Amino acid sequence: MKLRKIKDTAVLIVFLAAMIWASCGRSEENDEKQIYIGVACYDQKDTFLGELMESFKDECSRLEDKGYDISLTIMDAANSQRTQDDQVQEMISNGCDILCVNLADRTDPSEIIDAAREKNIPIIFFNREPVEEDLMQWDKLYYVGAPAKQSGQMQGELAADLIKENPSIDRNNDGKIQYVILEGELGHQDAIIRTESVAESMKENGVELEKLSYQTANWNRAQAQNRMTQLIGQYKNSIELVIANNDAMALGAMDAYEKLGITESNYPVFLGIDGTDEGLEAVQQSKLAATVYNDKEGQANAMAQLAFAVVTGQGIEDIKFENQKYIYLPYQKVTPDNVDSFINDQE
Ligand code: BGC
Ligand code: CA
Repeated sequence: MKLRKIKDTAVLIVFLAAMIWASCGRSEENDEKQIYIGVACYDQKDTFLGELMESFKDECSRLEDKGYDISLTIMDAANSQRTQDDQVQEMISNGCDILCVNLADRTDPSEIIDAAREKNIPIIFFNREPVEEDLMQWDKLYYVGAPAKQSGQMQGELAADLIKENPSIDRNNDGKIQYVILEGELGHQDAIIRTESVAESMKENGVELEKLSYQTANWNRAQAQNRMTQLIGQYKNSIELVIANNDAMALGAMDAYEKLGITESNYPVFLGIDGTDEGLEAVQQSKLAATVYNDKEGQANAMAQLAFAVVTGQGIEDIKFENQKYIYLPYQKVTPDNVDSFINDQE
């Protein structure tokens, strides 16, 4: 109870500070031109999400060029749907104009949808995609994300290209690639679809595969290191390829090899997805063979533009939806040859 009170007070302070800050920067003539965006994030410790939120803050401050004051509250659910339901309720009570929601449990958006709908507040879901049935419940529900299948396909093509160019990846020379997969959170659309499509794509591109194991590491670097340490114990140096559903887990797998003091010539090939700052740096240093860029700048921009258009009614006709409510930003392949352009793009 006490904790809850502290949390409420903290939220109130943040809100008041945002209001004061907003009113300070406001020019006299457009007093009412203000947009309050409430963002609910599943877990800001998630590397990709943390970077996406930074881009979103930048995009929102850019929106102010359109003559509106934007106030932003970002709340972190620390992976609990109940906490997130409460946080959304608070932002609604605080008078937000629109919600951006990164669901803790993508199968359970109903409380949030009901609460927002009651007050006629639109919701842009992002990164963690609700099932279609939920999104179809109301016309003011949207989704911004990326086409998961494409990321797995690209990762598979990158793997196949590498294997063709470097036959020595097949270290035991048996004509097959012994591989392990490190998977994101169970039930996450990106984990399920990436895992499926990467294997399909490697096969389609002529790679003979032998899957040794797959392990869930919840998108997390430390968990991936842990799982990988176990896998190395089990399969020794017969692992030729490590496919990770995201960069954080690919880096965690590399941490395991490093910590165990294994000589680099015995390392498998590592592939990730996301192109986080650390991921790009690892590609630049040729530690991570390649990654697939999850366009956080594009997603942040689409969310900010959509939020603005939905609240003000301006420019909504220029937004290109799929199925009237989905916006998917394409992935891109990142290799040592083009990695610099991704790093420069972010600056
Ligand atoms: C990213 C992961 C991230 C997850 C969070 C995925 O799209 O690739 O890095 O942890 O979203 O929902
Ligand atoms: Ca082999």
